This record gives sequence, C-alpha cells and structure tokens, in this order.
Amino acid sequence: MAATPFIVFQGPTNLEGYNRKRRPSEQPASIPKTFLDAMEVREQVFVLEQGVPLENEYDSDDARACHWVIYASVNTIIEPEETDAAGNIVKQQQSATKSQPIGTIRLVPFPHTPHPEPGASYTLDPLESTSSEPPPYIVDRATTYHDGKEPYIKLGRIAILKEFRGSGIAKILVNAAMTWVQQNPTYFNPSVEIMGMNNLGTSSTDEIPVWQGLMCVHAQEQVAKAWERWGFHLDEGMGTWVEEGIDHVGMFQRLNIGNQGILP
Ligand SMILES: CC(C)(COP(=O)(O)OP(=O)(O)OC[C@H]1O[C@@H](n2cnc3c(N)ncnc32)[C@H](O)[C@@H]1OP(=O)(O)O)[C@@H](O)C(=O)NCCC(=O)NCCS
Repeated sequence: MAATPFIVFQGPTNLEGYNRKRRPSEQPASIPKTFLDAMEVREQVFVLEQGVPLENEYDSDDARACHWVIYASVNTIIEPEETDAAGNIVKQQQSATKSQPIGTIRLVPFPHTPHPEPGASYTLDPLESTSSEPPPYIVDRATTYHDGKEPYIKLGRIAILKEFRGSGIAKILVNAAMTWVQQNPTYFNPSVEIMGMNNLGTSSTDEIPVWQGLMCVHAQEQVAKAWERWGFHLDEGMGTWVEEGIDHVGMFQRLNIGNQGILP
C-alpha cells in the first residue's frame, strides 16, 4: 500500500568528494543523503533508461543547485506469515514501511554558460568546465524570450521512475520548485559585499543582477508538451540542439514575484 508521497528539499551544498565515475550508492558518507537519493533516480532514468554515460550525469551545477526529491512510502513484507499443519497462524506476517525516492528536479541559479548554439551537438554539459566555480557573468546572445542579460534560473533534470509515471508526480515536483522560488525570490541574488562589482560584470549599482522571475528549461523535445502544460513557452530563437544524443529545445516562463524582483 502506498501512502501520500512527500517531498524533501536540498539546498546548495558542498559535494566535494563526489566521484562522477561511481554510482550514487558508492559515494563517500559526507555526501548528503537527499542528494544521493536524487542521483539514484537520475541514474535509473537518464543513465540506465536513456543511455547517458554515468560520468556525464553529475555536473558542476549540482553543488550550487536546489534539489527536490519526492518519496513514496512502500510497504514491504520482510517475513511471511507462518501457519501450522492445521492452517492456524502461528506467526503474524512482518512488514516494514520504507521511503523510496521516486522522482527529482533541480533548480540552477544564475549565472549560466552561454545558450547552446542551434544545430550543435554537446556531450557532458554544454560548454561546461569541471570546475566547482560558477560560470562568469556574461552578455549572452539574445533569443525570443531572453535579452541576453536578464538573470534567469534554470529548472532541469526532472525524472520520475518509470513505474510511477503518468499520475501527476512530475507536476507535483514542478509546482513545489516554482512555489518555493516564488516564496524565496531573492535567494539567488548575489551579495555585492561578497562578490565585488567586477565579478558581477557591472560597474554601476543599477546593473547589479537581480532575479525578476524569468525561468528557463532545456527541454528534451519529446517532453516539451509537458513543459508547456507547466507554463513554459517554446523559445524559437534558441533553436534546437543535441545533448547526449537527445534533441533539446529552450523554453521560458516568467513567474509573478510581485515587487520583489524590481531593480533597486
Ligand atoms: C517527463 C516525466 C518527468 C513526466 O513525469 P510524469 O510524472 O509522468 O508526468 P505527469 O504525470 O506529472 O504529467 C504531467 C503532464 O504532462 C504530460 N506528459 C507527461 N509526459 C509527457 C510526454 N513524454 N509527452 C507529452 N506529454 C507528457 C501528461 O499527460 C500530463 O498532462 P496533464 O497534466 O494534462 O494530464 C517522465 O516521463 C520522465 O521521467 N521521463 C524521463 C526523463 C525525461 O525525459 N525528463 C525530461 C527532461 S527535460
């Protein structure tokens, strides 16, 4: 019997020591359990089902991202019922309830590497370095919904275990991530005191990057319809590219965050 699924949040965390060539179950004890659960789901779906190489699944955005993992409580029989020769129960069945990770999604803060080039083919993450430092602030090429400058956050790596698909689990995760960011719209805004103006790519205070509700996804083309249902619009200007052998498109959505995203 399955109980109501529950969601656990994992904020940005130190993942030093994570070995991308090893499976989630073989990682050091220092790696947070919620993140390992997210990687278990990603291994099942992206690596085993979709054929992405294991070492390409973990990337340098994982440490600075927020992750959500959804669990189902699964009741399993650990010792069966025992009966005597006359059929009388001599020992009751023993069962245990275990929480199983069944889905995950992540939210990557700005800044990002440049938008992928239309028609290009990428493996590992597009233009990604293996450094744990976030990419620098840049002026990107303008697309249909992005002027190349506005900070945007990126939803991605959504995955639901095959046997749990088709019953709205992905929608619950997308809603959880979007509700969280609407409630915490300033969470990713950089601190000028810590970063310094130069590293923010600006010399004037009115150009300090402030998140104004813009969200992006790099959607697998076959899932674009689902992202449309979740409020995203296809960005024609971003074109189509290939990541890990899978066709991708860019999509954007602007969340209403009231006056909290107004530039100072
Ligand atoms: C895509 C995925 C996360 C959807 O998970 P799910 O739990 O089955 O999705 P939901 O049940 O919440 O479906 C949400 C909506 O999208 C639609 N949908 C789901 N998958 C779809 C697909 N592949 N194509 C078109 N529509 C789809 C559903 O019909 C549903 O619409 P509704 O709300 O109007 O009924 C899941 O199929 C998956 O893990 N796929 C493999 C990994 C992957 O491709 N990730 C996407 C990377 S961009």
